[in-house]
Amino acid sequence: MNGNHQKQRFKDAIGNFATGVTVVTAFTEDGLPTGMTANAITSLSLDPLLMIVCFDKTARTRVAAVHSGRVGVNVLAAGQEAISKSFASKASEEEKFAGVGWSERAGVPVLDGCVAWFAGELSELLPGGDHEIGVVAVSEFGADGGEPLLYWNGAYGRVLGESNRSELTGSVEFMATDDELVEPIENDWLPGGE
Ligand SMILES: Cc1cc2nc3c(=O)[nH]c(=O)nc-3n(C[C@H](O)[C@H](O)[C@H](O)COP(=O)(O)O)c2cc1C
Repeated sequence: MNGNHQKQRFKDAIGNFATGVTVVTAFTEDGLPTGMTANAITSLSLDPLLMIVCFDKTARTRVAAVHSGRVGVNVLAAGQEAISKSFASKASEEEKFAGVGWSERAGVPVLDGCVAWFAGELSELLPGGDHEIGVVAVSEFGADGGEPLLYWNGAYGRVLGESNRSELTGSVEFMATDDELVEPIENDWLPGGE
């Protein structure tokens, strides 16, 4: 099996792991807000509060996070698919943020309308193949709640049913937000890099 075939099989297999979608943000050296779509994020520790953000080594947001030392994680709402697509591109930070409301909180850009946000110090950057594993010491966070944007098998989706945890237990359904899979986007993310 050649390497590319194996990467594609891995991508197809890991696509079965349904996730939310975040935009990881930071301020550039010039003080501009920048950010990238990311789903390779997770909570890590409660004591102290830590999160993990996996940065592609080519991600410009990684450079900004390293420079500023601060990272924001914005959990996107169901209606923010266009933001996810835009922040997954290599557009300039001005283009990505055009028409997107945001404010500075705890030293990071926080997007309007997200269901939750986290801000903290980039305390460690560990090797992870063609990625780097950023450990974020969370200092402030907030959650307005609401319906999250989902990502599964290369498609965006949303939770069906009432936004009530007890009702959703065991009955979460996935509904693609488009009739077909998401259109290929420039620089579509491939776990393991491409
Ligand atoms: C659903 C989705 C999830 C992604 N997750 C990650 C991720 O966890 N880490 C990462 O570095 N890139 C991820 N990407 C790819 C980045 O969003 C993409 O490389 C982006 O262009 C980086 O922007 P930047 O160079 O301005 O930082 C993801 C893309 C999509 C569509």
